Amino acid sequence: MSKANPLIEAALNARHQALAPYSKFKVGAAILDDTKQITIGANVESASYGLSCCAERVAIFKALTEGLTDFSALAIASEGGVAPCGACRQVIAEYAANATITLIDSNDPTSIKQTKIDELLPSAFTSKNLSP
Ligand code: THU
Repeated sequence: MSKANPLIEAALNARHQALAPYSKFKVGAAILDDTKQITIGANVESASYGLSCCAERVAIFKALTEGLTDFSALAIASEGGVAPCGACRQVIAEYAANATITLIDSNDPTSIKQTKIDELLPSAFTSKNLSP
């Protein structure tokens, strides 16, 4: 897979929408659903640091509130191609459990890693655990 992949390009471009004045660490995410729509997100930081929201959750929450539900792929672009934080892993496990996750190093977009949430968050707690 290369930069010509539309989902990867969308994640790389989404980095430019990041509002990260405190960390200066810009992250872009793009999620693909079964209607073939791509929804993007970028991290948005707050002066009250803990209120900041990661790119992955922005993308997922945007897509969900547009009525999109079945996600097949999630691409995340950052310097170094970092994996999602714990909070994002939980949200991915609940709302995008089947998505292939592609991690892209924005400094070298040909350098990608693919994974699934089962690998990043084994034995996730989900709504299934709430049903007796
Ligand atoms: N961040 C993300 O948006 N996604 C990740 O996968 C890791 C971290 C953001 C949160 C914060 O705005 C900045 O990167 C530094 O932690």
